[in-house]
Amino acid sequence: DKVPLLFQPFTIKDLTIPNRIVVAPMCMYSSLDGFFTNFHLASIGSFAINGAGLIIQEATAVLPNGRITPGCAGLWDDAQVFKLKEIVDFVHAQGSKVGIQLAHAGRKVNFLASAGAPYTKYPESAFWPEDVIAPSGGAHLQWDKHHRVPRELSLAEIQRVIDAFGAAAARAARAGMDTVEIHGAHGYLIHNFLSPLTNQRTDHYGGSLENRARFLLEVVKAVRANFPAEKPIFLRVSASDLVEEVEGIEASWEIEQTIQIAKWVRDAGVDVLHVSSGGNTAQQKILTAPGYQVPFAEQIKRAVPGLAVVAVGIILDGPQAEEVLKSEKADLVAAGRTFLRHPNFALNAARELNVKAAFSQQYSRGRTIHG
Ligand code: FNR
Repeated sequence: DKVPLLFQPFTIKDLTIPNRIVVAPMCMYSSLDGFFTNFHLASIGSFAINGAGLIIQEATAVLPNGRITPGCAGLWDDAQVFKLKEIVDFVHAQGSKVGIQLAHAGRKVNFLASAGAPYTKYPESAFWPEDVIAPSGGAHLQWDKHHRVPRELSLAEIQRVIDAFGAAAARAARAGMDTVEIHGAHGYLIHNFLSPLTNQRTDHYGGSLENRARFLLEVVKAVRANFPAEKPIFLRVSASDLVEEVEGIEASWEIEQTIQIAKWVRDAGVDVLHVSSGGNTAQQKILTAPGYQVPFAEQIKRAVPGLAVVAVGIILDGPQAEEVLKSEKADLVAAGRTFLRHPNFALNAARELNVKAAFSQQYSRGRTIHG
C-alpha cells in the first residue's frame, strides 16, 4: 500500500521533515522577560512526543517593543538562546523538527493585555515601551482602545528593526533551529508595511507595491544572510486583508499582490510560504469554515513555481489534511487550535489514514500491546 502523502517525508534544502503535519505558531503568553520557559518545553515537547513533523514556535519578538504582550517571547538577547536550545534538542530527540517565528508586533502591541493575562507577573510599568511603532502613525491607525496610537518609524529605526531580524535569525541558528519563519501576517509590522490600509508613507517604503514590499524584502535578506544557507526559511503572509465587502474600505491587499510579493521573496531566498489571512483591520470579514484559507494557498502554489506552500486554518482531521495534499493545493498542512485540543493530532491522523505512525520510543510499547 502506498503511504498517504501526509505521512511521507518532505525535504526542502537540507531539512527533511518526517511527515507533512506542521504545528502552527501560537503565542502562549508564558515567557518571562522574553525568555522561553518550562511551559514551552512541555507544550512544544508534547507535540513532538506525539509525532508532529514540524513545530513552529510562537511569534518571537526581535526587539523588546516587538512583543504583543509582556508575556510574549523574545530573541533580542544572546542569553535567550540557552532555553531555546534545550527545547530544540528535546524535539530532535523525538525525531521531529522545529522552527521559530520571528516577529515584530508593530502597532498591535497590546499594552493592556498584561492586566488580563494570568500568565505574567510583571507590572507593565517595569519594562513596557513608551511608544508603539508602525510604518505610519496617527489616531486613525490605532487598532482599538486596548492599543496605543502608533508613531511613524524613522528611516534609522526601520534599519534597526531589519538588523534585529538578522541578529535574531543568527541566534535561532545558534539554538539549532531547523528553520525560521518570518511573521509577515496578521497586521503586525511587516504586514503593516505591505498593506496600503496601514502604510501611508511617502518615502521609498510607501506608495507603490514595490516600495511597500521593500521592508519585507530587506528583512528577508537580513534573515537569509544570518541563517545557514542549507536550511530553509519560511514566511507567513496574510494573503488578503479580507475587506472586499466592507463598505468604505477599498480592497487593496489581496491575493494578486500576495502572489507578486511571493515571487519576489522566493527570488530573495524564502523557501516556503505559510498562507494565512486577515488581521490588519478590525473591519475585516473573517471566514470560519473548515479549510477556509486553503484556496489562498492553492492559488499561490499554482502561480509561483519553486515556492513550497503551507495551508492552515480549521484543518481538523487526517482525511481533510490528506485531501489538501492529494489535490496538490499545498505541500504541508498546519494546524493550531486542533493541536491545542489534541496534542496527539498527528497520531490520530495516522490512525484515521491507516498508517503505522512512528510513536516516540517511550510510548511505542502502548502500540505493541494494544494493537
Ligand atoms: C495563533 N495564531 C498565531 N499565528 C501566528 O502567525 N503567530 C502566532 O504567534 C500566533 N498565535 C496564536 C495563538 C493562539 C492561541 C491561536 C489559537 C492562534 C494563528 C494560528 O497560527 C493559526 O493560523 C490559526 O489559529 C488558524 O489555524 P487553526 O487554529 O484553525 O488550525
